[in-house]
Amino acid sequence: MGNAVNIAGVWLKNPILTASGTYNYRESSGYYDPAALGAVTTKSVSPTPWPGNDAPVIAETHGGMLNAIGLANRGLEAYLAPGGELAMLKAAGATVCANVVGRTAEDYTKVCEGLADSAVDLLELNISCPNVKCGGMSFGTDPAVAADLVRKCKIAAGAKPLLVKLTPNVTDITEIARAALDAGADGLTLINTLKGMRIDLKTGRPVLSTGAGGLSGPAIHPVAVRMVWETRQAVGDKVPIIGMGGVMTGADAYELILAGANAVAVGTAALIDPRAPVRILGELAEYLRFDTGKSSEKYSENM
Ligand SMILES: Cc1cc2nc3c(=O)[nH]c(=O)nc-3n(C[C@H](O)[C@H](O)[C@H](O)COP(=O)(O)O)c2cc1C
Repeated sequence: MGNAVNIAGVWLKNPILTASGTYNYRESSGYYDPAALGAVTTKSVSPTPWPGNDAPVIAETHGGMLNAIGLANRGLEAYLAPGGELAMLKAAGATVCANVVGRTAEDYTKVCEGLADSAVDLLELNISCPNVKCGGMSFGTDPAVAADLVRKCKIAAGAKPLLVKLTPNVTDITEIARAALDAGADGLTLINTLKGMRIDLKTGRPVLSTGAGGLSGPAIHPVAVRMVWETRQAVGDKVPIIGMGGVMTGADAYELILAGANAVAVGTAALIDPRAPVRILGELAEYLRFDTGKSSEKYSENM
């Protein structure tokens, strides 16, 4: 099969992944075999459990949604526990990319250290966090701060390949991309959500409890295409790039590949249809003319 892609030394059997925060094994594995995808990217993991924000944390928009879930997760220990998310995905034969988050540089390095000897295949540093206050520091928007964090995490991650997930909420995404790569990042993922807000017409107040939230879905796809394109032009051919943002169909995924992505992640589409990643994989195969393999064919019969 000519559909495998190499991301920073890790072979993905095909170029479709889940986007962080939109897949979890307990809820999603009944819909398709996670080993059918190139990789599953798991929800952001922090060193200790993080509560989410108060409701409401979700709002629909034209062509997408806003979320202010706030990176709620059960923490590193639960992630690594026997019977935890990582163990279940590995038992199912999935390739796993672990998304890492923190409020301080020490938080991030603790998680990277904790994952360095784990069964995780790739690390993805979430320096985009639009819904949490990151220790007053702008990890994803200040090139010097981003570089310092990546340098520390690269050491903490040991031999695990380290991808850095970029925010679109900047004037020039290529500045942060270059800073992350110069500091030792092995690849880039982009884009995270765009900062947005809706107002309740009856109360005159923001719909989300946090005021602003992160916009995702088809509305942001052209922004993702533009940013992947600009990043690819800036960093050259060799840097692995995982593109995401509003991918609803194989055509959308192919567009991101044409823009310069080596692989593509599916997020919001899976909240509408949990099987979207395997459907999109099948559709993308039509464009790239590859064989999706037995596993995904088996599941696509049920769609
Ligand atoms: C409900 C929800 C939760 C998310 N949680 C995370 C997260 O924990 N960490 C992260 O890096 N990105 C998170 N994201 C961002 C997605 O991974 C992705 O970058 C973004 O939604 C754009 O892709 P999409 O338009 O296909 O959803 C989340 C997105 C949504 C919609």
